[in-house]
Amino acid sequence: MLDDIQALKQKVQDYTISNEEELEAFRLEFLSRNGKVQAMFSRMSEVPNEKKAEVGRAMNEVKNLAQSTFDDAEKRLAREEAASLKASDDITLPAPPHSLGSYHPLTQTLEEMKNIFYRLGFSIADGPEIEDDFHNFTALNFPPNHPARDEQDTFFIEKNDDKEDLVLRTHTSPVQIRLMKEQEPPIRSIMPGRVYRNEAVSPKSYFLFHQVEALYVDTDVSVAELKETLISFAKLMFGKDVKYRLRPGYFPFTEPSLEMDIWWETPNSNEDGKWLEILGSGMVDPNVFKSVGIDPEKYTGFAWGMGVERIALLRHQIDDIRVFYDNDVRFLEQFH
Ligand code: DAH
Repeated sequence: MLDDIQALKQKVQDYTISNEEELEAFRLEFLSRNGKVQAMFSRMSEVPNEKKAEVGRAMNEVKNLAQSTFDDAEKRLAREEAASLKASDDITLPAPPHSLGSYHPLTQTLEEMKNIFYRLGFSIADGPEIEDDFHNFTALNFPPNHPARDEQDTFFIEKNDDKEDLVLRTHTSPVQIRLMKEQEPPIRSIMPGRVYRNEAVSPKSYFLFHQVEALYVDTDVSVAELKETLISFAKLMFGKDVKYRLRPGYFPFTEPSLEMDIWWETPNSNEDGKWLEILGSGMVDPNVFKSVGIDPEKYTGFAWGMGVERIALLRHQIDDIRVFYDNDVRFLEQFH
């Protein structure tokens, strides 16, 4: 019997526990209810009385050894696991910063513009970026040989002899035509969108940019209302102290025509500043009304086309339009 106990003690001592599975296997083999230690105690009845004390001591020694082997291994494994955790696994550390994206500065400017016109009572409409010659030029009273139809400015998608040319719209004004064909006056809408021009890329121009077109048609719309609306916009967009001027201009689709400039302060240079044109506008030309079947004797209207990039440049004191299209995160991050 004592030999069996000794053999069991040896087994316990020889056991190596290097992971959780082996720890559990050890527990099942020696310490569980059906384990070898329990089996050993159940053989006590075989032991003659005079030996019971000695055998009992030996048995308790094996039992304690098995239990302490288990306890020590359990602690050691827990310590090893803690030590193997990487710093990043330390759940008590603060979470790493979670960087959220933000709207592109052009989108932010466009949203501000839309909000202002919404407050001034304008609804929003849009139209296609691929236009036909009729909507982009003819209906807007461009004479057949007007230089804007020239390939220098216009990206042609299709040049056709027998039907309309297709172009990437060079301005948002064709949406006015679509709106007037669809809807009876009164009309009071803005039409934001992308436009394309075949121009050399420079700090001042890009082949793609954005405009916000507007059209207001009703009985008795006046130049005074146009001026008032433009001035209200400038003050809401740039603050009530904004320095602006309205100049006469020329567009085939408006008569008379006006352009609006905003004073650009140049804090980082020696120059005083300069005027920056932000929009063209005017009273809708009677020929435009005729091309869409609206009676110019009954209705008058005003319209404008604003440059979103120009307004964003002024808003943020940026002097190069190309930064809006470079997608440089270091630039974009500044507009959170
Ligand atoms: N379409 C013109 C441009 O792109 C801007 C413009 C001028 C739009 C006068 C208008 C307007 O609606 O009335 O240069």
